Amino acid sequence: MTSRLGRIIIVALAAICAAIAIVILADVWSGDRGRTPIVATNSAVGGSFSLIDSSGAAVTEKSWPGKYLLIYFGYTYCPDVCPTELAAMAGALDAIGPDADKIQPLFISVDPARDTPEVMAGYAPMFYPRLVGLTGTESQVAAAAAAFKVYYRKAEAEGASAYLMDHTSFIYLVAPDGSTAAVLPPKMTPEEMAERLKAVVDAA
Ligand code: NI
Repeated sequence: MTSRLGRIIIVALAAICAAIAIVILADVWSGDRGRTPIVATNSAVGGSFSLIDSSGAAVTEKSWPGKYLLIYFGYTYCPDVCPTELAAMAGALDAIGPDADKIQPLFISVDPARDTPEVMAGYAPMFYPRLVGLTGTESQVAAAAAAFKVYYRKAEAEGASAYLMDHTSFIYLVAPDGSTAAVLPPKMTPEEMAERLKAVVDAA
């Protein structure tokens, strides 16, 4: 009786865990589609990257010593979500005044086939003068995305050039020591984001 009850409890717990995992994965994949995601802890998110800036120069996470990095992954052809998030980042940086100088905003492409350094050079400064657009080879981008647990894939499309990318839509604040200080969910207002950024950089 006891062992039978034990087995029932184990099966029930396994079912609950599976259900939770499905919900989390579904939310991660739908990050660009506007639902509120479940935000996990920061501990396993972030790391080193090796990419190309909009002048064609090689950069890494160490290329802005002493700065916090505010990182968003997306692509310039994104019709709605990326522009919204980049505008929110810009609004937040404007809102925190001189503290913004402690932060280097970065926009990392998940669509390097179309987002050449030249395309990134024309795109990023439209949102914020100091926003740096980064791209790279397919494998450089894949490695950077993997470090930050960013999922992306080309959406099904007929044409070769007119495709969309599915991608997760979190914003990462990396401290000068390389640790991830905050993972911000999509759809924050500039004011909410400014509050979070200020809390981190003022505490340091
Ligand atoms: Ni996007």
